[in-house]
Amino acid sequence: MIPRIYIPGDSGALALGAEKVAKAIAGELAERGIEAKIVRNGSRGAYFLEPMVEVATANGRVAYGPVKPSDVKSLFDGGFLTGGHHKRWLGSPDKIPFFAKQTRLTFARCGVTDPLSLESYKKHGGLNGLTNALALTPADIVAQVTESGLRGRGGAGFPTGIKWKTVLDTAGDRKYIVCNADEGDSGTFADRMIMEGDPFVLIEGMTIAGIATGATKGFVYVRSEYPHAVAVMNKAVEVARKAGVLGASVLDSPYAFDMEIRVGAGAYVCGEETALLDSLEGKRGMVRAKPPLPAHKGLFGKPTVINNVISLASVPVIMDKGAAFYKDFGMGRSRGTIPIQIAGNVKYAGLFEAAFGMTLGEIIDDIGGGTATGRPVKAVQVGGPLGAYFPRALFDTPFDYEAFAAKDGLIGHAGIVVFDDTADMLKQARFAMEFCAIESCGKCTPCRIGSTRGVETIDRIVAGIEPEKNLALVTDLCNTMKFGSLCALGGFTPYPVMSSITHFPDDFKPAPVRVAAE
Ligand SMILES: Cc1cc2nc3c(=O)[nH]c(=O)nc-3n(C[C@H](O)[C@H](O)[C@H](O)COP(=O)(O)O)c2cc1C
Ligand code: SF4
Repeated sequence: MIPRIYIPGDSGALALGAEKVAKAIAGELAERGIEAKIVRNGSRGAYFLEPMVEVATANGRVAYGPVKPSDVKSLFDGGFLTGGHHKRWLGSPDKIPFFAKQTRLTFARCGVTDPLSLESYKKHGGLNGLTNALALTPADIVAQVTESGLRGRGGAGFPTGIKWKTVLDTAGDRKYIVCNADEGDSGTFADRMIMEGDPFVLIEGMTIAGIATGATKGFVYVRSEYPHAVAVMNKAVEVARKAGVLGASVLDSPYAFDMEIRVGAGAYVCGEETALLDSLEGKRGMVRAKPPLPAHKGLFGKPTVINNVISLASVPVIMDKGAAFYKDFGMGRSRGTIPIQIAGNVKYAGLFEAAFGMTLGEIIDDIGGGTATGRPVKAVQVGGPLGAYFPRALFDTPFDYEAFAAKDGLIGHAGIVVFDDTADMLKQARFAMEFCAIESCGKCTPCRIGSTRGVETIDRIVAGIEPEKNLALVTDLCNTMKFGSLCALGGFTPYPVMSSITHFPDDFKPAPVRVAAE
């Protein structure tokens, strides 16, 4: 058997030098006259170990990382093709603590399989969910998804089954499945990892959604900053079509389903579902007033399911192993697993899939290893640019939609950005207002005008102009934005602002005091 070498080709690993490592390995193989197969897999998500190269040995896979091109010669000298020891030797990937502690359901194949091999996908349980779904009625599929407790992983946490039921129950000569892959939240990369590392799971999830709701056409709206994901998805759709997974007769069933990949418009607000639909229709991405809901009148006015990548990619495992299996993980009304993305100033950055319920402290300190700078953690922002900043005092909060909401926070797309004690929370609050001003679609006044006034008012606090009065004004403005904005861009910007003010009051002291303190 010729040796198999796995070198991640996903954009995270590429950014860390995986291409140079792949070239060095190919060169070394040629020089030594060794025949081997190089598989460009996705990343398993431990970016602090990337580029992480694996070799398939008689005793299973052995990982090495982070590998530099300069390591390659000595890797071969040390017999890495048979798992030989080397300073970069990590052993079996499954035993590396960062992976061993995870519960991989949605990401089970990511980093393991060849992303564009349907054979490899099937060998690892791929298409079992779709096959099971085809044996059920659409209403039964929807009931399974509802029963699993799956909630939208894009941000709002809305029950996926209920959304699907609305589309199933709405008459339409044409219905659509739209996958939201705009992934604009700071510190998030779960959607990208799935699209680049296991694209068929998304295709399978969307196909199941189509069969369950009566939709025959799907679109994946991928942010323009993800060219690799776009390329992999396009190739995977082609492979799926050729194999009869997509097309006029899905896996030889009476159901038709096909899909296309579309590149996003490069605006944060285009991740908001109705702005996304406008953008997909070729218009400028502007938020639509609701009702009508997209489930009733969505893409091109037709009933539309719009779900995040992770929501859709979690459906195959539910349909494969059953709603009860999935529901068994988690806590409260947050069922199943969540791919937590740990980023920012953190020692062990990466994607960690776990059942809901871990505390924020466990995630940051135990899994993330604290800050990369070695300084104390000051704040963590959970849920993207619209998420609250939590201080260490809130680290006992379990990762659960309701628990976060109870502390004026949100889980969002489960991105966590870590800050050390050098962070200035007043600057972060200003940044939140500035971000909103730049990204606002402009449709409603509290967001369009309020965010700009917010920046100006915070600047007055910085300058020491009537700080107490201006702080009260910011609080008042946050209330107006929270309750008066049409969508969550304006409506949630108060979360990072108010959490900064509430949890880090010292950073909002008047300028002379701030300067003196520094
Ligand atoms: C400003 C803004 C940006 C958003 N960006 C995204 C995004 O990038 N990806 C995403 O899935 N949802 C995003 N959402 C949430 C979507 O509007 C919507 O709730 C989601 O796509 C529904 O899918 P789900 O139920 O599977 O989560 C955003 C919402 C707002 C208000
Ligand atoms: S809150 Fe902002 S982004 Fe949302 S509709 Fe209003 S102006 Fe547009």
